[in-house]
Amino acid sequence: MNYRHAFHAGNAADCLKHAILVWLLRAMARKEKPFLALDTHAGIGTYDLTATPAQRTNEAAAGILRLLDDTPAPLADYVTLVRSLGLYPGSPAIIRALLRPSDRLIACELHPEDHALLRRHFGRDGQTAIHLRDGYDALAAFLPPPERRALVLIDPPYEREDEADRLLAALHTAHRRAPSAVIAAWYPLKHRAPVRALHDALRGAGVPDIVAAELHLREPLDPTRLNGSGLILVNPPFRFETDLPAILAALLDRLGTGEPGQATALIRLADE
Ligand SMILES: C[S@@+](CC[C@H](N)C(=O)[O-])C[C@H]1O[C@@H](n2cnc3c(N)ncnc32)[C@H](O)[C@@H]1O
Repeated sequence: MNYRHAFHAGNAADCLKHAILVWLLRAMARKEKPFLALDTHAGIGTYDLTATPAQRTNEAAAGILRLLDDTPAPLADYVTLVRSLGLYPGSPAIIRALLRPSDRLIACELHPEDHALLRRHFGRDGQTAIHLRDGYDALAAFLPPPERRALVLIDPPYEREDEADRLLAALHTAHRRAPSAVIAAWYPLKHRAPVRALHDALRGAGVPDIVAAELHLREPLDPTRLNGSGLILVNPPFRFETDLPAILAALLDRLGTGEPGQATALIRLADE
């Protein structure tokens, strides 16, 4: 396990993922019944963007720092939350900030050092459980939750060649165990072929109601670069496809590279 999110915190991929995560958490809170948020690949919780790892890559300069500098209206909810939390928040910190007293968070992290930092971040928080375990296995362990409502974030590092296959298997498991769970799964846009293969696999997966939201920074021609990223949504809440175009357009407006191929996409991969 070489990937450490501290080197990438606040980049454009984080902005896409977290802006949508905030939208999803607001949507979950529209219904009174409590829910479980399961963050399968949680990272360390918060990140100091002035510390060495973030400074070494400077990825936040082309991501959250641009949004903090000049916040477009469709991203105001997300950026205001980031600003209010002090240190730059990763997904579990964002989730925790938007839980209601009856909601719960389970966060899994497999890297021992990052797990220790995550555990320290949350301390004895009564609404959060931190686990040093494989996030994919956690789907079978924690779904369905007693609450019968769940929001699942699957955000793997894509270090392994078979990560997309593991993700597809995970979506099947999660859907079989909790058919109504809202699932968000992140994927990189590096080269066109693997993204097409992922979309095709999802179209044929037999899982209903899947939408993909993508932010393309440039043509996906150089497989060694992160040329954009996407989020797969299973059971996207009401108004997702109505609200997302403005969020994606605002992200592109601020984070776009001006290079050929920059674009947004909202693709329905499986009908309801
Ligand atoms: C992209 S980062 C997560 C970032 C975080 N979700 C956020 O948005 O702030 C991926 C994390 O998954 C962890 N990881 C890698 N393989 C894992 C696995 N099988 N189960 C749980 N965590 C894993 C890595 O150590 C890394 O911290």
